[in-house]
Amino acid sequence: MCRTVPKKRVGVYPGTFDPLTNGHLSLIMRATAIFDTVIVAIAADTTKSPLFTLEERISLAAESVKNIPGVVVEGFEGLLVDYVLKSGSHTIIRGLRAVSDFEYEFQLALMNRKLDREIQTVFLMTDYQWLYISSTIVKNVASLNGNVKDLVPPPVWTALRHKYGFDEK
Ligand code: COA
Repeated sequence: MCRTVPKKRVGVYPGTFDPLTNGHLSLIMRATAIFDTVIVAIAADTTKSPLFTLEERISLAAESVKNIPGVVVEGFEGLLVDYVLKSGSHTIIRGLRAVSDFEYEFQLALMNRKLDREIQTVFLMTDYQWLYISSTIVKNVASLNGNVKDLVPPPVWTALRHKYGFDEK
């Protein structure tokens, strides 16, 4: 009897990740329940001016996910759709925190679909505990010596303290 071998499902979770927060981490963990492999794809080409270099963002994310099976971290340059196809995937994963995210996410998803009709974007809801955080708000609080230890993975907390030059409270 001939059985069809199921295809491996690879999902690409792209972002600037400047830096990766517990909100991103929770989304990555939930994505591993759906995809065999989740690639956390860190963009070199972003509209933002990141605090951390691409290499720093990659290494902080890699350190933060090292104990989650099925997750890999990579940096990429150029168009996201090109990178997704090169990775052997057809799926972009994005998180939605609130209705306010929807318009921007809709725009990104439609532009990516225009660029390549084979690629689908799927949205996962962010866990309610992390609805209010973003990388920007975490950096802002940390830059003013505020404690964001509970909002980011330990390597990111250490990196933020080094970047802003303060000791742990
Ligand atoms: N928990 C907490 N925060 C979350 C979150 C979650 N689950 N999901 C998103 N966020 C926050 C992020 O922290 C980030 O906050 P910030 O704006 O304060 O930095 C924000 O929501 C969204 O950022 P992020 O997820 O990093 O994505 P992005 O919008 O910065 O990334 C790219 C955009 C990288 C996907 C896009 O620029 C891209 O594809 N670049 C490659 C070039 C390209 O193809 N361009 C054309 C795109 S159509």
